[in-house]
Amino acid sequence: MTRTLTSPRHRRSLRAISLATLTAVVLAGGMAATTAQAAGSTLQAAATEKGRYFGTAIAANKLSDSTYTTIANREFNMVTAENEMKIDALEPNQNQFNWTNGDRIVSWARSNGKQVRGHTLAWHSQQPGWMQNMSGTALRNAMLNHVTQVATHYRGQIHSWDVVNEAFQDGSSGARRDSNLQRTGNDWIEAAFRAARAADPNAKLCYNDYNTDDWTHAKTQAVYNLVRDFKARGVPIDCVGLQSHFNAQSPVPSNYQTTISSFAALGVDVQITELDIEGSGSAQADNYRKVVQACLAVSRCTGISVWGVRDTDSWRASGTPLLFDGNGNKKPAYTATLDTLNGGTSNPQPGGCTVAVTRSTDWSDRFNVSLAVSGSSTWRVSIQLQGGQTLQNSWNATVSGSSGTLTATPNGAGNNFGITVYKNGNTNLPTATCSTT
Ligand code: XIL
Repeated sequence: MTRTLTSPRHRRSLRAISLATLTAVVLAGGMAATTAQAAGSTLQAAATEKGRYFGTAIAANKLSDSTYTTIANREFNMVTAENEMKIDALEPNQNQFNWTNGDRIVSWARSNGKQVRGHTLAWHSQQPGWMQNMSGTALRNAMLNHVTQVATHYRGQIHSWDVVNEAFQDGSSGARRDSNLQRTGNDWIEAAFRAARAADPNAKLCYNDYNTDDWTHAKTQAVYNLVRDFKARGVPIDCVGLQSHFNAQSPVPSNYQTTISSFAALGVDVQITELDIEGSGSAQADNYRKVVQACLAVSRCTGISVWGVRDTDSWRASGTPLLFDGNGNKKPAYTATLDTLNGGTSNPQPGGCTVAVTRSTDWSDRFNVSLAVSGSSTWRVSIQLQGGQTLQNSWNATVSGSSGTLTATPNGAGNNFGITVYKNGNTNLPTATCSTT
C-alpha cells in the first residue's frame, strides 16, 4: 500500500482510464480529438492527475501550528521528516533508538492519508557524537546496524528511503566526498543499500544529492556512473533524488530535463526531493514552472517535494524560497506550480492532438497564456476563458472570439502560440481542447 502512487500497475490503470476517456471524446465528436485533463485545485490533486505525488518536508515541532498543518494537509500527499529521521535524531546513543519524533511525523502522515519519504539512513552530516568519533570496521558495522534497525522499525510505512545522502564532492573532481564513512571503504554505499533492501524489501531505495541537477557537472556524472554501475552489478537501487536547492549561485539549469531523462534511462525513478528556489515574484514563479515542466516531461520523474511549507519554515528563510509566504498565502510560485501541473501534456491519440496550457507573464490586470500543440500540424484549439475574462491580444495563430469560447487555428507560425487575457477580477487559467482538422 505504501507504493500505490508509483506502482507500475497503478500507473498503467491511470493511463487506461484516460485513454478510455479520450476514446469517448473521439467517438462523440466524430473526429480525432483530445481534451486537456481536468484541473486539480491543489498541488496534490493536480500531481495525482499526472500520476505523480507532490510532497513537503515536515517538522514535528510545527504539527501544533494549525496554519501550517492546514496547508500541509490540503496541498501535499507525500511527507519527508525535515530532521527527525536523521541519524542523530534516531540513534542519539549507540544502539539506543529514540523513535518519538520520527513516529509523530509518520503517524500524522498516515492518519491524513499521506505517504512518507524516509530521510536519511546514511550520511556524513548530522551524525550523533558517538558516530562522529568512530572509524574503520566498528563504524561500518554501526552504520549497517543503524540502517537495519531504522529500516526495520519503519518497514512497510516508507514509500522511498534516501539510503545514502550527499556522498560526492562538489567541484570538478567527480570524486567521493571524504568522510568517516567513506574511509571505511569505497563499498560503504552499496553495503548500505543491500542492508536497506534486506530490512524493507518494499521501500524504493534512493541515492540523494545536491548539485546534481546540471547534466554537465562532474558531480552529476559521478552519481550517474554510480547508478549505472549499481544497475550493471545488481546492487539494489530504485531511484535517484535530486535535492534541487536553487538560488542565484546555483540556478535551475537549462539542461535539467536532460539530467532527469538520463537518470531515468538507467532504469531508476527520479524524485525531486528537496526543492526550494530563492527569489520572489514572477522570476521565482518562472523557475518553479521550469522545474515542474522538466519533471512532467519524463514519465519516470514520479514526484516533487518542496523543502518546507511557508517561507518562514525554510532552512533558507531569508531567501523566501517556498510556495507560501510567512502568513500562509499562496505566492506567484504556487500558482505557476499548480498551473504547470494542470497544463502538462498527455500522450496524444494517434492522429489526434494535445494542447498544453501554461501561464507565462503575469501583470496585475492581465496575463499571457502560452499554448503548445503537439501531435498534429492541422489543428483547431478551443479555448474556454474563465468568467469575466476577455481577450486583449494573440500571436502566432488566428484567434476568433473575445470572451467565453475562443477558437484558434494555425496561421503558418507553427504549433506554439499565445494570447493575452484581461483578468477582470478572475485570475484562473483558461482551459483548452485540441482537435485535428
Ligand atoms: C536541513 C534542514 O532543513 C535544517 O533544519 C537542518 O538544520 C539542516 O539540514 N540537504 C539535506 C537536508 O539532505 O537534510 C538538509 O536539511 C538540507 C540540505
